Amino acid sequence: QRPPWPDPAALAQVTAELAALPPLVVPDECDRLRALLRDVARGQAFLLQGGDCAETFAAATAESVRDKVKVLLQMAVVLTYGAAVPVVKVGRIAGQYAKPRSRPTEIVDGVEVPAYRGDAVNAAAPADRVPDPRRMIQAYHCATATLNLVRAFATGGYAGLRQVHAWTTDFVRRSPVGERYEALAADIDRALAFMRACGVDLDRLATAHGVELFASHEALLLEYESALTRWDGGRGAAYDLSAHLLWVGDRTRDPDGAHVDFLARVANPVAVKLGPSATPAQVTALVDRLDPHREPGRLTLITRMGAARVRDLVPPLVAAVQAAGATTVWACDPMHGNTVVAADGRKTRHFDDVVAEVRAFFAVHRELGSVPGGLHIELTGDDVTECLGGHEEVADLGVRYETACDPRLNTSQSLELAFLVAEMLRAG
Ligand code: TRP
Ligand code: MN
Repeated sequence: QRPPWPDPAALAQVTAELAALPPLVVPDECDRLRALLRDVARGQAFLLQGGDCAETFAAATAESVRDKVKVLLQMAVVLTYGAAVPVVKVGRIAGQYAKPRSRPTEIVDGVEVPAYRGDAVNAAAPADRVPDPRRMIQAYHCATATLNLVRAFATGGYAGLRQVHAWTTDFVRRSPVGERYEALAADIDRALAFMRACGVDLDRLATAHGVELFASHEALLLEYESALTRWDGGRGAAYDLSAHLLWVGDRTRDPDGAHVDFLARVANPVAVKLGPSATPAQVTALVDRLDPHREPGRLTLITRMGAARVRDLVPPLVAAVQAAGATTVWACDPMHGNTVVAADGRKTRHFDDVVAEVRAFFAVHRELGSVPGGLHIELTGDDVTECLGGHEEVADLGVRYETACDPRLNTSQSLELAFLVAEMLRAG
């Protein structure tokens, strides 16, 4: 998956520049997320991780970031209130600028061109596909600006519990799921009023005013990740300070490969995506490499099997983790195993398949005595039509299909999923 950078000297110049720039996050925050994920691994909290499949430089705007944060907050509040469980909120945001590809080239309008590998590597425009390392500098600056806004939204009052109504958008409010959300928001207002009447001073309660919102992305471009990795002398450990949590994808999870080796060397919480080809032996090797001290919260395993295959494929992997004496977080990515090609040639996902995979994930873990700990999804705050189905019944992908890579759930579909998952959590 390493891009064929054409000019080694230019690449070296870029990594030197990145290595001299300030980090995006600090080790304390990474440790904090690791501690929260320990609660998730033990079944005392739920992980919600979501955002774009691929972020683009063009979409690093105030509106786009705000709307993505909005959906995450809405989903989080539905889960927190609906299931009465603490939710650990992690965005696929501020760094998700590189994409793994199945083939190095693709055919566009009959011409073979290098594949688009994400804005951090090359341009989406077919004429501009030569990898340019300077794009990693631009990725750094977009990530910085994005994370700055995310932090402002999370702690600047916007995320406060009095704002629950304000996170919904007009195009959702009028829909059935929007009405359900408004009803929940009214319940929360009543609960807050009740607490106030009981003498709880909500204004002095920091937790009512904001949220902890963490950043994550796939650690794919090892040049970028290494340059932003810093040694912490006090802790005697290295941290990848480009994000709080990093994961490796299903294509780069070879236990003896460079990407896993990189994650093994940093003290951040880390995650691995597991697709249908993952074997119990590989999972055992991943646990040994990435969680040698068996610390719950260090390693998150994200399964993405496809709705029909969860029941067959997940149990042997859970058994491997249990036999290794590890307690990982188990999260469900119900998106990537359910991608299909629609009649018009576009990639899409059916909402029913997404829900079916999450249901099977909960059922399987409950049977095995392991913890269904989290949800990893691709979503956007925009009113797009990229995934089919849902209450609003998206039937025509052509209306607004804008993704730079995989099809994302729109706001209504994301909210609907949150209500369903809250029910599944409550049933446990
Ligand atoms: N701070 C608490 C939490 O993170 C409560 C809270 C405030 C909250 N704003 C929120 C929960 C927005 C979900 C969404 O859980
Ligand atoms: Mn994707």
